[in-house]
Amino acid sequence: MTASVKLFEPLTLRGTTLPNRIVVSPLCQYSAVDGLAVPWHFAHLSTFARGKAGLVFTEAAAVEERGRITPDCLGIWTDEQAEALRPIVEFIESQDCVPGMQLAHAGRKGSTRAPFVPKGPSPLTAEDAAEAGAPWLTVAPSALPVTDGWHVPAALDEAGLETVKQAFVDAARRAVAVGFRVLELHMAHGYLLHSFLSPLGNQREDAWGGDLEGRMRFPLEVAAAVRAAMPDQLPLFARISAIDGREGGWQLEDSVTLAARLAEVGVDVVDCSSGGIGGAPRFRSDDSGKPLSADSARAPGFQVPFASRLRAEAGVGTMAVGVIIDPQQAEDILQAGDADLVAIGRELMYDPFWPLHAAEALGVDPDYRMWPKQYAWAVDRRAQIKRLNQ
Ligand SMILES: Cc1cc2nc3c(=O)[nH]c(=O)nc-3n(C[C@H](O)[C@H](O)[C@H](O)COP(=O)(O)O)c2cc1C
Repeated sequence: MTASVKLFEPLTLRGTTLPNRIVVSPLCQYSAVDGLAVPWHFAHLSTFARGKAGLVFTEAAAVEERGRITPDCLGIWTDEQAEALRPIVEFIESQDCVPGMQLAHAGRKGSTRAPFVPKGPSPLTAEDAAEAGAPWLTVAPSALPVTDGWHVPAALDEAGLETVKQAFVDAARRAVAVGFRVLELHMAHGYLLHSFLSPLGNQREDAWGGDLEGRMRFPLEVAAAVRAAMPDQLPLFARISAIDGREGGWQLEDSVTLAARLAEVGVDVVDCSSGGIGGAPRFRSDDSGKPLSADSARAPGFQVPFASRLRAEAGVGTMAVGVIIDPQQAEDILQAGDADLVAIGRELMYDPFWPLHAAEALGVDPDYRMWPKQYAWAVDRRAQIKRLNQ
């Protein structure tokens, strides 16, 4: 292996070593039944382990039933849900990859239809109830809907805050008990913890709102509580929206402050995404249910500067994400010191063997030793063709 290729250098965080710097970004599949993983989840996540990503995150797993985005979201609010994930965890480990789980609470962005359901994503209505057991009452820092036409959430009171915090802690314990070795707290994209941070979601006048300190208080308490519930050798990540990108919203300077505070309570890596507070859906569908991409105009690496700034100024590890497509692009991000890890979403769904193809493109492991041994014949044949063409 070529030592100078950073993408394939292992990274040790606490006592956990990731075999390379390629991370499968959390990717909702809207395919769970009662929060339980189904064969699709095994097929989906195991593919990335066969492709040799260093760290394979599950999609956002809801820590409470009311914290699901849709009725089809993965859950981790029961032991049964955790157990359903055990075979996936074991398979990922069998491929020498590290299994990770994203813990999430949708807050006021919950109780919606899956993007590929006609009319989705949009708030569930009573008409959906027969199929979906919905809509349900969503919760938030303040009783503010995401935007017109969305559910009006209930503002969490003191007891409600404690319940949610405990749900994160219980979910973390369950995830660790079935073998997940990295946890990520979802504090981005307008979901519950992000809506506490942003002045556009949090208009409380008590100790859980107001100035930056007040708005950070609940997410930081959740992070500290989850950290305390995890074994010391397991890393904790937090995904944040580094900017709201809206007038009067959360700014990059706020993220620098937050990232430093997250590091203080034991968060090892800040995963730098952006946006989502205003409810503009990331994915839309036309009237026939055909998905339309809302973010196709975003340029490659558009969020990398956020990871770079936080890594330089907040004393925390960072993960870059967002339209990272080419192996050399990923390598350049790491070589420039912009991030410690790169997370890839859509490109990995398009090519789950991306890490192996990237290794080849970057001149690492020309003998294809990284491939699953069961596929040796296929890769030998490729090597043979390459030799013949030289
Ligand atoms: C189908 C789909 C589902 C997603 N689900 C999640 C999720 O569960 N949690 C999350 O934090 N981000 C989620 N995202 C955002 C991705 O993790 C990632 O940040 C985004 O797609 C940008 O990276 P990419 O350009 O490599 O796809 C999702 C994105 C897609 C396309």
